[in-house]
Amino acid sequence: MNKTFYLTTPLYYPSDNLHIGHTYTTVAADTLARFKRLSGYDVKFLTGTDEHGQKIEEKAKEKGVKPKAYVDDIVKNIKELWKTLDISYDIFIRTTDKQHEEIVQKIFQKLYEQGDIYKSNYEGLYCTPCESFWTESQVEDGKCPDCGRPVKKAKEEAYFFKLSKYQDRLLKFFEENPEFIQPASRRNEMINNFLKPGLEDLCVSRTTVDWGIKVPFDEKHSIYVWFDAVCNYITALGYLTDNDEDYNKYWPANIHFVGKEIVRFHTIIWPAILMALGIELPKKVFGHGWILFEDDKMSKSKGNVIYPEPLIELYGVDALKYFLLREFTFGQDGSFSREKFLKRINSDLANDLGNLVSRTIAMIDKYNGGIMPEPTEEGEYDSDLKEVATSTGYEVEKFMDKLDFSNALEEIWKLVRRTNKYIDETMPWILAKEEDKKERLNTVLYNLSESLRIISVLIRPFMEKTSDSIWRQLGIDHGQGTSWEDISKWGILPTGVKVRREGPMFPRLDINKELKKLNEVNKKFLEERMGKATMEEKKEENYITIDDFDKIELRVAKVVEAEKHPNADKLLVLQLEVGDERRQVVSGIAKYYKPEELIGKDVILVANLKPVKLRGVESQGMILAASKGKKLTLATVMDEIKSGTRIS
Ligand code: MSP
Repeated sequence: MNKTFYLTTPLYYPSDNLHIGHTYTTVAADTLARFKRLSGYDVKFLTGTDEHGQKIEEKAKEKGVKPKAYVDDIVKNIKELWKTLDISYDIFIRTTDKQHEEIVQKIFQKLYEQGDIYKSNYEGLYCTPCESFWTESQVEDGKCPDCGRPVKKAKEEAYFFKLSKYQDRLLKFFEENPEFIQPASRRNEMINNFLKPGLEDLCVSRTTVDWGIKVPFDEKHSIYVWFDAVCNYITALGYLTDNDEDYNKYWPANIHFVGKEIVRFHTIIWPAILMALGIELPKKVFGHGWILFEDDKMSKSKGNVIYPEPLIELYGVDALKYFLLREFTFGQDGSFSREKFLKRINSDLANDLGNLVSRTIAMIDKYNGGIMPEPTEEGEYDSDLKEVATSTGYEVEKFMDKLDFSNALEEIWKLVRRTNKYIDETMPWILAKEEDKKERLNTVLYNLSESLRIISVLIRPFMEKTSDSIWRQLGIDHGQGTSWEDISKWGILPTGVKVRREGPMFPRLDINKELKKLNEVNKKFLEERMGKATMEEKKEENYITIDDFDKIELRVAKVVEAEKHPNADKLLVLQLEVGDERRQVVSGIAKYYKPEELIGKDVILVANLKPVKLRGVESQGMILAASKGKKLTLATVMDEIKSGTRIS
């Protein structure tokens, strides 16, 4: 049985197109997933989208579409991007997935029943237009930090999670598991800035946000989006379902990859929820640094966002993946520049690796008719090359285990450079001139190819397309010296096969010309993706036709009886007269109307809605109301008209 390895990226907000910073996290996680698979693990790799909450609700409103339609559109782009980048995820979870929503409700209910979640009041400063609470320290001169309008003191009923109860256990866990949070600087930050000063209970519900998972026993509350989101790491595996095989097999996660600003949610809030649920904590949370643009955080409002698509279009997926993982130290911030990107392509990919491949294959073509020669005559420099080549895997693994992608690549490039040096040392073009050096020449060509085989396997988790190209050129396929065990062996490359020359994998770039080209492609991309025209089209897609509208049967109905729902404070049970027919409708209006106020009123009924049971009572339709914030009013008709009349 293989050892398992479960790793996760954060779930992305589908609030915009993803930029190079988001790509960074996912590429890193993907590379580790591939590396672990290559070295024999049974890997589960999870990514996905975090789709609830006020931010999404507002964005959708701005665009004039329903939140679900809004996120569906962006999730499509995100999946497309992961496809382009060849991200090998096993699970793509959306927090709007039914399974996730149901399990989050079960978790909430369980914690409520055991007393870890309780009802109280959230007190703070409230900005009505933004529907946001703020603390004293966030507010300046009594103004909302978001919109600058005045805030007022407010109190809202809310559910709280007993985070404070877990403070000592968390501290103890951090002390006993120094590897849990990495890098160490983030661990110290969590201990000193959050745990030691003391944790407050966490507000985990909102009545001001509608676009969220409802508190199962109190539906006017939506579950706080972060509570909802972190639970994905276990809901995706089927926790609390009948189908929990994956949960039993893969949990606890080996690594949660997260950006530094969300370490707190993953190392304090999430572990406390897990402790409350009585389940094991993840083994590691790695908080990586940000990719900045000219030392500034990328943001759409600053106009300095770098999108990956134009870079991929011009230079390929592998160049981008290589650059991201080689240029920046994973735990620290790093500054992106197009110039640095192009220079790295030239030095590491075109000069070092690309040249090594094309020189080797060209020499086999020229000196041995394109056939992989037999190695028969050892000579000077061979043992050193062999030594470096067969030990590189070990060094790479050491760095990968520390998530030091940059140094892992540097180790591989040491071998690339060592192999290039071997060409200079052995000078095959001189050997080719001398008749009695044929055997030595063959050995040199074979050794170069053998080193390339090892390189092709080592780079595979980082750059699969390049690895494939090297295999094709060496005339080998999967299984021919391409396993993880094979990288510490020497002399196993098949001989006598035909090598196949391909064009340069990474042509040398003229930096100035490329910078211009990149600007143009970038501009075109932005116009296409975010252009005004596209947004208009999207709105267009959200129109319905008169035929769609006709499918909804709206009728005037008269309330003849009304009473409180036996099992839910929020609901009323209404008996309606609809022409000659009687209908029972359950409606969430108990907070706004007393049952007796409704008798005799004309309301508007959606008459062809599929009947459902609400808290055990059947509802045969829905009545319409207008609501905003805390106000709600039922829709009606202006003048007396017979009940049952169709509204169109
Ligand atoms: N939805 C939450 C995560 C919930 S996980 C249960 C979220 N989403 S996000 O879309 O805003 O960010 C996703 C990840 O992208 C975060 O880890 C964040 O740090 C990372 N990055 C966003 N901008 C980044 C850079 N400029 N550089 C590197 N990573 C960055 O947070």
